Amino acid sequence: MAKKNEKINWEYAPAPESTGHINLKEQYNLFIDGKWVKPNSGKYFDSINPANKEKLASVAHANEKDVDKAVKAARKAYDTVWSKMAPSERAKYIYRIARLMQERAREFAVIESLDAGKVIRESRDVDVPLACNHFFYYAGWADKLEYAFPNRKVSSLGVAGQIIPWNFPLLMAAWKIAPALATGNTVVLKPAETTSLTALKLAEIIEESGLPAGVVNIVTGFGDTGAAIVNHNDVDKIAFTGSTAVGKIIQKAIAGTHKKATLELGGKSANIILDDAPLDQAVEGIVNGIFFNQGHVCCAGSRLFVQESVADQVIEKLKHRMNSLIVGDPMDKNTDVGAINSKEQLDVINSYLKIGQAEGATMYQADCSLPKSGYYCRPTLFTDVAQSSRIVQEEIFGPVLTIQTFRTVDEVIQKANNTPYGLAAGVWTDKGSRIFNLTTKLRAGVVWANTYNKFDPTSPFGGYKESGFGREGGLHGLEAYVKLN
Ligand code: NAI
Ligand code: MG
Repeated sequence: MAKKNEKINWEYAPAPESTGHINLKEQYNLFIDGKWVKPNSGKYFDSINPANKEKLASVAHANEKDVDKAVKAARKAYDTVWSKMAPSERAKYIYRIARLMQERAREFAVIESLDAGKVIRESRDVDVPLACNHFFYYAGWADKLEYAFPNRKVSSLGVAGQIIPWNFPLLMAAWKIAPALATGNTVVLKPAETTSLTALKLAEIIEESGLPAGVVNIVTGFGDTGAAIVNHNDVDKIAFTGSTAVGKIIQKAIAGTHKKATLELGGKSANIILDDAPLDQAVEGIVNGIFFNQGHVCCAGSRLFVQESVADQVIEKLKHRMNSLIVGDPMDKNTDVGAINSKEQLDVINSYLKIGQAEGATMYQADCSLPKSGYYCRPTLFTDVAQSSRIVQEEIFGPVLTIQTFRTVDEVIQKANNTPYGLAAGVWTDKGSRIFNLTTKLRAGVVWANTYNKFDPTSPFGGYKESGFGREGGLHGLEAYVKLN
């Protein structure tokens, strides 16, 4: 290991992933009723690569009329084909989608990295394989629902309206579509405006799979398109992942209607290092928890709590590790931290860096150069923060970590739970008993022990408090799409 504070020279030769094998059209229409149709408004918007601001493709902007057409197609497919089909037959289509995605995994990974700014290593090793696994996993449940809910009569809901964010574009589409189809529902899905391309590629696969027309419809656009889905009378269920602010708008909009909802919203998750933790592993986990995917992770471990006796040591190790992170071109296989998804999001993050400094916190940033064009942010940590600081209370959604210390376990439980959110938490300790004590007292949907940001289709995910309600993934994820009698 290098000596204290010594700057390591991690000069790797560039190892860019090739973009030669991807197939992107210049313009994408809407995927409605099994066909590619022009938007009613005639309007298109650009999807850009945030790593260099270059345009990748233009994408249709769906309005209310387009959404109505998509919902009608989904309703017809539900009534005439999908709800009547034998579950084992439905499963075959879902398996086919999973296999086609697997065959084209590299193309999906490259397009995801180009469109979202996320590093190719993660799109390739995390996003795309997990998205495939979600389809495989839920395909397996399609004809076994009576075992998922023993002694209950299980029926589907109808048309599901699904609205997803830009941080895990393909994976979120898989999380939403796979359980909906497995339980016999049809879908109208809207990807986020900055990251529509992998959802549109998924539509191509769906077309290739021969899935009956109208079972899955993909409409692209902005918040107005999402609102048109939410407010459509003939939608039976809304599944939303995104900001708490929009989650609240959606909840108000559907109050008093027949629509069911699951909302997966923001977070301000605590990562807790106890004094007996293996510190090098813990530091690696903290780095993964907040700098993974540029901190664009709803369950990012954005608040670090370190037991006082090891705090100096941890902070020093953390700074040392931050300085070896490679920030830059998402398409380079060596890159650790890629581009911020959009100018808007970079502005939000930068405004929080100013707020933190104005609040009197001490800011430390990784000592690295940033590419000249594109949207980037240095991995950043703040010490000398108060529990009431805005940077401790509010979601930043970028590579920004706050650090607080504590003396006793009771104190850290109180501090960790003192937030409007409750999505995830992490605990680092050598003792199983301390893990169990903390996991039962932390008000968070997921608690990782001696690891962080690990996902699996079999385990449920979701929040407490303002992080939303309902669970996605695993057996629990089926429940959001069925009626039980
Ligand atoms: P957002 O909540 O506005 O966008 C998420 C999705 O909702 C997008 O597809 C968007 O088009 C759609 N949408 C926007 N307004 C809508 C409305 N009124 N009705 C229906 N759908 C609507 O999130 P945004 O503006 O991209 O990010 C803002 C902040 O939200 C971020 O800084 C971050 O803190 C948080 N966020 C949390 C995410 C999570 O996974 N929990 C994901 C993305 C953002
Ligand atoms: Mg983009």
